[in-house]
Amino acid sequence: MTDLERFLEASRASVDAALGATLPSETEPPEVVHRAMRYAVLGAGKRIRPALAFATGRALGVRTPMTERRFTTFAAAIECIHACSLVLDDLPCMDDATLRRGRDTCHRVFGEAHAILAADALLMLGFDLVAQAGDAAAIGRRDLVELIRLAAQTVGSSGMIGGQSLDLVTRGAADLGSTERIHRQKTGVLFQFATRGTAILCKANDAETAALSAYAKNVGLAFQITDDLLDFEGTTAKTGKDVGRDAAKPNFVALCGAAQAHAIVHELLSTAKASLAIFDSRARMLHDIADRVEARES
Ligand code: IPE
Ligand code: IPE
Ligand code: MG
Ligand code: MG
Ligand code: MG
Repeated sequence: MTDLERFLEASRASVDAALGATLPSETEPPEVVHRAMRYAVLGAGKRIRPALAFATGRALGVRTPMTERRFTTFAAAIECIHACSLVLDDLPCMDDATLRRGRDTCHRVFGEAHAILAADALLMLGFDLVAQAGDAAAIGRRDLVELIRLAAQTVGSSGMIGGQSLDLVTRGAADLGSTERIHRQKTGVLFQFATRGTAILCKANDAETAALSAYAKNVGLAFQITDDLLDFEGTTAKTGKDVGRDAAKPNFVALCGAAQAHAIVHELLSTAKASLAIFDSRARMLHDIADRVEARES
């Protein structure tokens, strides 16, 4: 097992424990909402955003971020927000997906109305946890407000929701520049929140915050391009979701071909890794996560 694999496994165990303890139990009313929330969050996701948050903690000099409540709570928050985005993304009025994380999409199990309610509740829980993470870090009122506002801007109409809207309306008529903007918004901003939010929790300085933000911005875009590539050349067995569905959507593979998309991913990740120079060996996991994005098959 490589250091990265050990890190990812510990990261998953840590965030899953935090999520399991925080998500309302399935027997607590309203049971169907709570069952749908747990179903959406606790499925077999990769937990890459939590891993980015923990690896950012490491880069900022925290030895064992996975055992500290400010980080585990923050990682759980991001995963709740991410799971919300997946449930909404899969709805019949959005991507109309049948499979997610190797099983039926949330709305196919619980119905559309309850999938939407569960997604809303997950978003609220995510914000609750962001506030709790800031509280646990004792960062002070100003930074706490900044952290919560950053979460709101990440999700809002200039962030992930804006990107998802553009993704829907741009269907079939995109150029590379607008597709890049869509990808940065719908996917990149949450990656940036993982690193910038952690930077706030650690009271990082401006140079550190800027470097982490540049890293996450490029990793986030590369991650969405590899997602496009997996839709084109991956399998449902490995990705756990429908494939071959995105040809008519704003999509790097459709626009410039698979070979060029791979080359762009490589370039973006090289740039991302170069922005970690100020952290030297403490950024090793961030460096290795970037490499993993390029090689991923799921
Ligand atoms: C899928 O994200 C949605 C995108 C932004 C591409 P992930 O590939 O991280 O999904 P999980 O969490 O591993 O299921
Ligand atoms: C979704 O992008 C980005 C989100 C904000 C959820 P995709 O629609 O390509 O994600 P998948 O392929 O369904 O996971
Ligand atoms: Mg989509
Ligand atoms: Mg989708
Ligand atoms: Mg996709």
